[in-house]
Amino acid sequence: MQFEVFTLLPEVFPSYIDTSIIKRARERGLITVRVHNIRDYTHDKHHMTDDTPYGGGGGMVMKPEPIFEAIESVLGVDASFDDSLEEREASAQDVNIPIILLTPQGRVFNQSIAQELSQHDRIVLICGRYEGFDERIREHLVTDEISIGDYVLTGGELPALIMIDSISRLQPDVLGDPTGAQDDSHAMGLLEYPHYTRPPEFRGWKIPEVLLSGAHAKIDKWRREQALLRTYKKRPDMLEKADLSKEDKKFLEKLKNEEEREVRETSDEE
Ligand code: 6GU
Repeated sequence: MQFEVFTLLPEVFPSYIDTSIIKRARERGLITVRVHNIRDYTHDKHHMTDDTPYGGGGGMVMKPEPIFEAIESVLGVDASFDDSLEEREASAQDVNIPIILLTPQGRVFNQSIAQELSQHDRIVLICGRYEGFDERIREHLVTDEISIGDYVLTGGELPALIMIDSISRLQPDVLGDPTGAQDDSHAMGLLEYPHYTRPPEFRGWKIPEVLLSGAHAKIDKWRREQALLRTYKKRPDMLEKADLSKEDKKFLEKLKNEEEREVRETSDEE
């Protein structure tokens, strides 16, 4: 997987990508991160990458020329397209490289988008600064817009790092444990079950007995139920999309009934 990042703040990236799992993945050639300074693709004396908005108003707008030129120069292709949707799709398909604009207006990033993007060999990430981008960047260059959540950041650099991190760990061999990414919270549509390590008793708090039993089937069942319980309590919205077995549904039904009984009992006491 090759990430091509376009930014006005390239200095943000090295420390994170030179750390831990991402560092090792890069050293092993499993991923490549290339960071390009958009400013290097300006030709005027002041290396201008932004300008005032037509029509007035506050804030600055990122100019189209340096961004188009930077991406076309790095990809070595004419990446731009005209208005029709067919042409837009054809162009994106032609190079088969997602050109992603990081903006709070994009679709909200999640594990399934990470999985979808992890199938590509190369991805372009464009990080914005200032108030926004000249609209022609959206209309004629990018194939996708992504946000990392409903809040506003000063730029797309942290979102780009988040995407690089989550997509990299889905690449084959990046994680030491080959089952590592399968059991993740979100990967299976449920939150993860609780984990414990030594000591078996800490300040009087014991780990659940079942984990010491050595009975693998029992442990698997307990973990599945804990995952269901957690998801039910913390993220019930996730249960609607989760892949649930008959036993899972029965267990959740039991949880709901217990909860309803508790509610009835407390209201009876009042
Ligand atoms: Cl991708 N960019 C900015 N500037 N703010 C954000 C975001 C992206 N995602 C959430 N907030």
